[in-house]
Amino acid sequence: MIKKHLLLLFLSIAMLLNGWAQNKGHIILSTGKFITGNDPSWSQPGFTDTGWKDQRLGEPWQRQGFQDYHGYAWYRIHVIIPSSLKASAAWKDSLRIFLAHVNDVDETYLNGKRIGKIGTFPEDPEGYISKWPAVRDYHLSASDPAIKWDADNVIAVKVYDGGGSGGIFMGTPYIDMLQKIDGISFENPAETIQYLPGGRAARILHISNHFNTQAEGTIAYTVYDAIEKKEIAKKDIKVTLAPFSQQNYTIEMPHKMGIEIAIDFIESQSNEKRTFKQVLPYLLTPAVSATPRINGAKLFGVRPGSPFFFKIPATGQKPLTYQVKNLPAGLTVDANNGLITGKLTKAGDYKMILVVKNKLGQSERSFTIKAGNLLALTPPLGWNSWNCWGLSVSDEKVKSSARALMDKGLVDHGFLYMNIDDGWEATKRANDSTIVPNEKFPDMKGLGDFLHSNGIRFGIYSSPGPRTCGGYLGSYKNEALDAATYASWGIDYLKYDLCSYTEFMPRRNSSLEDNQKPYILMRDELKKQSRDIVYSLCQYGWQDVWKWGPEMNGNLWRTTGDIEDSWSSLYRIGFSQARLSEYASPGRWNDPDMLIVGMVGWGENLHPTRLTPYEQYTHISLWSLLSAPLLLGCDLAKLDPFTLNLLTNDEVLAIDQDPLGKQARQVLNKDSIQIWVKDLEDGTKAIGIFNLNNDFTKATVKWEDLGLKGAISVRDIWQQKNLGVKKGEYTETVPPHGVHLIKVSGFDKT
Ligand code: GAL
Repeated sequence: MIKKHLLLLFLSIAMLLNGWAQNKGHIILSTGKFITGNDPSWSQPGFTDTGWKDQRLGEPWQRQGFQDYHGYAWYRIHVIIPSSLKASAAWKDSLRIFLAHVNDVDETYLNGKRIGKIGTFPEDPEGYISKWPAVRDYHLSASDPAIKWDADNVIAVKVYDGGGSGGIFMGTPYIDMLQKIDGISFENPAETIQYLPGGRAARILHISNHFNTQAEGTIAYTVYDAIEKKEIAKKDIKVTLAPFSQQNYTIEMPHKMGIEIAIDFIESQSNEKRTFKQVLPYLLTPAVSATPRINGAKLFGVRPGSPFFFKIPATGQKPLTYQVKNLPAGLTVDANNGLITGKLTKAGDYKMILVVKNKLGQSERSFTIKAGNLLALTPPLGWNSWNCWGLSVSDEKVKSSARALMDKGLVDHGFLYMNIDDGWEATKRANDSTIVPNEKFPDMKGLGDFLHSNGIRFGIYSSPGPRTCGGYLGSYKNEALDAATYASWGIDYLKYDLCSYTEFMPRRNSSLEDNQKPYILMRDELKKQSRDIVYSLCQYGWQDVWKWGPEMNGNLWRTTGDIEDSWSSLYRIGFSQARLSEYASPGRWNDPDMLIVGMVGWGENLHPTRLTPYEQYTHISLWSLLSAPLLLGCDLAKLDPFTLNLLTNDEVLAIDQDPLGKQARQVLNKDSIQIWVKDLEDGTKAIGIFNLNNDFTKATVKWEDLGLKGAISVRDIWQQKNLGVKKGEYTETVPPHGVHLIKVSGFDKT
């Protein structure tokens, strides 16, 4: 069901965590016999498949002439397994059959013996459950009689595709002998970094043996200072790992930018080596002050007559008390939690002052409510389930992330949306055609009430097509009913994803009208609801949606395909937004997709983002400069100190939330240095100096290139400190794929 390609992501994660590299003598399975349909006899080795088509393995069948086919299909892969494979292996225990990923469900046989199944088929008691993110890595004892050494073997794979692409994909299938090193992993969660006093940090290295055999080897590590260009520590450690055991080693190092750790593990029996590299996640955001500070949006849109609710996001030592000066009639504020509720019946701009106090002091800030037709006057800040849980999202998971959003203080920094993405819908509508959630969401209205009572807004996902991208029910021909159902659950935000609606659009050259039609339908239904629902268009930027998104009353629109947690994806999506600057304004945002920091995974098996810390600073800085929605796509319950620090820099978030609503312009792109400038409401400018090189690079901003002159004051936004007055130009060393984010003021225009 996945349309987009997460190939690199899964392969390298797999290799990093479980050592899924091919071992010596491996046999690549490049083609197989293929047929659509389903017949159990196709699993049998004696079956004659000569009439079947040939398929390349590792690419969806849609790319091999089966364009519109979804449903069952079988592969029969013929392979001679030489006994020399076993004879030459250092460890002769198990044969591995690696099939990469399967869209969406597979049941795999070797010579008629079932060796594995991942996901469930429609006819199974549980019904269809896609498990495309799982890697099919099947192991058999080398003495299993099912293996025919030196003869033709048939690996038969029954596959079910529930929508989108189908078949064996995202990797090259192969056979090899498993080695002990395949059972060794280095776990890399950022929470195993400890920040110590005195500018030091410690990396706790967990090394685990996942196999039922003892493994021996050497850990060889070096700690390198990439700014000073020198090695600062180096050590070899001999290790013996008992079956299913884990050992921890602590590596100490300075806590600063540019510290890189390289670890090799060499397994003694096979002499195979796996390498693991990490940049030390370094903290830049200063600790939150105990005195009150008001964060988040300064501008808020509501339709006259709709229920109003807004929680004042504020940090500071608890308890905090909240007050609003000039609160318009019709609204009240809860002094204990800062929740403003009520109704404004008349259109217009309502200006007020928010006041938050604690025993150490107080903070005030202006706040404007614009009662009119526009919602989301600043880019939505919050969470969405997709990059994290994928289709395995559940009520419990949403609640646990919502609790973490509150407990870890993200709400206080303005993260106020919790959006459920695909995977919440039941397989059938109710008898009266009402959409119903599946068993993972026992009480949608209850979930909404829980979120609202904590000041959090509630988002949901659907498609204008009959099916969502995950193969769940879409809103096709039920738009009115669905919009009303969402409103009855208390939904505040709808992500509307084109997916299977393309069935109703000409395959090639679909017109603007074809593209707009489904979004007009839902726009008109949302308008009729008695509550405000932010409208998020998701159609990957087709037909320049930024030009007509406002006409759809879209508050935001995806500008590209799906993001993944890799530099290439971040680079491709983030740095291609320059031409869209003019299309962003309050309530009308370009959406370069959700954030890929923290524990992500698009399913049940989460992993820490593969972006380096440098790239993560780039991600958050660039998205803020772009006035992009900041929707966290990670398990918030597992938020580590680095990611929390990264996400809670109020000066960075203020750039994203700036009420002027401009999107940064790219003003320089030379020698892999890019400079992006965003005009801010207070007349200052935020400047991102990005280094797209693979090394630390000195970058210079010449004020005249930005049309500025004079004695310019520079502030480092991540560290929240003034850097003084700089004349003519400003130079800073920027990390690889990293950023230096500054704000400038006091300038004259040239
Ligand atoms: C994709 C969309 C993703 C996610 C997914 C759900 O089309 O771009 O963001 O919503 O569908 O199946």
